[in-house]
Amino acid sequence: MSTHQTQVVIIGGGPSGLLLSQLLHRKGISSIVLEKHTREHVLGRIRAGVLEHGFVNLMREAGCGARMDREGEIHQGFHIAHQGQLDRIDLAKHTGGDTVMVYGQTEVTRDLYEARDAMGGTVIHEAQNVQPHALRDVHPFVTWEQNGEAQRAECDFIVGADGFHGVSRKSIPSDVLKEYEKVYPFGWLGVLSETPPVAEELIYARHERGFALCSLRSRVLSRYYIQVPLTDRVEDWSDAAFWQELKRRLPDEVAAGLQTGPSIEKSIAPLRSFVAEPMRYGNLFLAGDAAHIVPPTGAKGLNLAASDIHYLYHGFLDHYLKGDSAGLDSYSEKALARVWKAERFSWWMTNLLHRAPEGSETDLRLQRADLDYLFSSDAAQASLAENYVGLPY
Ligand code: FAD
Ligand code: PHB
Repeated sequence: MSTHQTQVVIIGGGPSGLLLSQLLHRKGISSIVLEKHTREHVLGRIRAGVLEHGFVNLMREAGCGARMDREGEIHQGFHIAHQGQLDRIDLAKHTGGDTVMVYGQTEVTRDLYEARDAMGGTVIHEAQNVQPHALRDVHPFVTWEQNGEAQRAECDFIVGADGFHGVSRKSIPSDVLKEYEKVYPFGWLGVLSETPPVAEELIYARHERGFALCSLRSRVLSRYYIQVPLTDRVEDWSDAAFWQELKRRLPDEVAAGLQTGPSIEKSIAPLRSFVAEPMRYGNLFLAGDAAHIVPPTGAKGLNLAASDIHYLYHGFLDHYLKGDSAGLDSYSEKALARVWKAERFSWWMTNLLHRAPEGSETDLRLQRADLDYLFSSDAAQASLAENYVGLPY
């Protein structure tokens, strides 16, 4: 068995894990990142596209902001299509100038990997059977296998940044961990296509046939989604059927301008609200999707991962540089307070814009009243805008 020594072992080489290891390294705190898959696999996952300004600042602080600042697009607002009309939420106006940045998760992850390479950071790919141990001891450790050989890393802390299906959350005893979950009765079918986006800004559409979203990655790369029943499979949807259904859910003038093309990625994601409490057990800290999931409607998943990393990073800085553990001790409480607010917002926006398969006429009228209220009230738009750009850390 080979044994490694480090201060923090980070399980999971997704955006949460990479961002934390990069931030810590810049302050002289050592870490080893253990990732189950290959780098190509991690970079091949098409996920989030909208970054809150807090995330953008954290990327800059990590020394990873140059390409994002060059290629990312600042968005000052987005649209909601409903009952054949298109209304705009002016983010900047309602938040005193705050905006979001459109820059794909794939690009974020690529920039983080490149920064880790440039600093000589340790990111171990294809780590099999990763297992955290001795979580309540002063010296926890993690074991794994690499090319059939047993490995062990001894550390002060373990960070579980291994996503919803990872091993970290499952290693917390079930009488300690409480899980809250809501599964929605529909999914999102997403298509990526090398076509110019239909609009400069995002369009979220509420329609009798179901939700649709027009998003983008760049001026030549579009990302579209439609609500589908959970029973649908990707193979059921030809490109032509997808484009036809998307057009039916958009206002006529938008549909008329839609440029279609072959899909270069097509996948279905289920929608779920999930929170695990607490986010700390002994010397194990959970961060990102390992601890919580939101439905993607509010574009909060990746952004919540970033606020966890912000709290955790500052907790580690105080612990290692000032000998003060208060930040680590309050991590779970602080992170969860923000998590639940983003859960509430994502749940609300999901309910506002989706067609529930079992929804009654009363549900529809309430949904319509919610939208009418939103676009007749500056206060309601300000509340939506404040949440969309990201609540303060
Ligand atoms: P992940 O990105 O899941 O990274 C975890 C990493 O841990 C992975 O690389 C995984 O391979 C690795 N891992 C897992 N198990 C182990 C193990 N046992 N040992 C070692 N490594 C392990 N958010 C949005 O804001 N907008 C969206 O449109 C959107 N779409 C999404 C679509 C899908 C299909 C999914 C699954 C998520 C989507 N999200 C979206 C959410 C967003 O992508 C996540 O919130 C974000 O990826 C969280 O980052 P993370 O680093 O915490 O977790
Ligand atoms: C995306 O571009 O993938 C995206 C944008 C906004 C969302 C969800 C997904 O709310």
